[in-house]
Amino acid sequence: MKVIHSPDELQEVAISYKNEGKTIGFVPTMGFLHEGHEKLIEEARKENDIVLLSIFVNPLQFGPHDDLDHYPRDEQHDRKVASRLGVDLLFHPDVESMYPHEPAIKLTVIRRTDVLCGRSRPGHFDGVVTVLAKLFHLGLPTRVYFGMKDAQQVAVVDGLIKDFHFPVELVPVPTVREPDGLAKSSRNVNLSAAERKEAPFIHKGLVHGKVLIQDGCRNPEKVNNAVKSFIEKHTHGKIDYIEILSYPELESVASIKGRIILAAAVKFNKARLIDNLVMEAGD
Ligand code: PAF
Repeated sequence: MKVIHSPDELQEVAISYKNEGKTIGFVPTMGFLHEGHEKLIEEARKENDIVLLSIFVNPLQFGPHDDLDHYPRDEQHDRKVASRLGVDLLFHPDVESMYPHEPAIKLTVIRRTDVLCGRSRPGHFDGVVTVLAKLFHLGLPTRVYFGMKDAQQVAVVDGLIKDFHFPVELVPVPTVREPDGLAKSSRNVNLSAAERKEAPFIHKGLVHGKVLIQDGCRNPEKVNNAVKSFIEKHTHGKIDYIEILSYPELESVASIKGRIILAAAVKFNKARLIDNLVMEAGD
């Protein structure tokens, strides 16, 4: 595994792989790798000649109240995971090399952003797409891998790739789950024992909503309320949102049809959990 710190060096290496006709599978991360990231790397390994993993805690996507300095980091662990899973290129730049001067241009996301978790994080996705545009130019990926657990990020990246004609295929990877259905997340360790038993009911609540849709319910409010009551009945968590939106446009729908996302965010004492199901709801 080659570890690269310099953006220019990454671009040179990527150009030489492309000239040899090799495909590059890219997994962008902010490090502190967990099983969700491992799944992305495994998928990239299966489908590409070269696997590129980036680890960069991107200051542009943190708001004034987010704790950038305390974002968890574990370089030794991340290197071990990357080399065990067969990563070829590990790109680990510092902030100064990625943003050597005050940027002259920043990208702004104007759709797909002020709903779901984006609503409470203004500017977050502007930072995400700005760093991804840079990383795409540096790493020249053939395919890029993102987890569907953050389906809003996948929708925003889909917009970035299409609007700016990046020659890269977006590969959304299904959410990795515990045997009881709970979506794997580094935040799950912050659940108490009692909360951990309740947390799978978020996924079960979404499945309950999906069954209602499959049975022909077309009224988003009815489905939202049913999911809400289900989760409230089985957990002590405080519901932040339950939303049904078109996917990937993330627009509200008067009637449930076509490709939609049913998403939930639930706050427990020390952990806010998110989960979603994306489905074809038919006509
Ligand atoms: O999902 C993340 O870890 C980040 O938003 C990403 C895509 C690496 C951009 O900094």
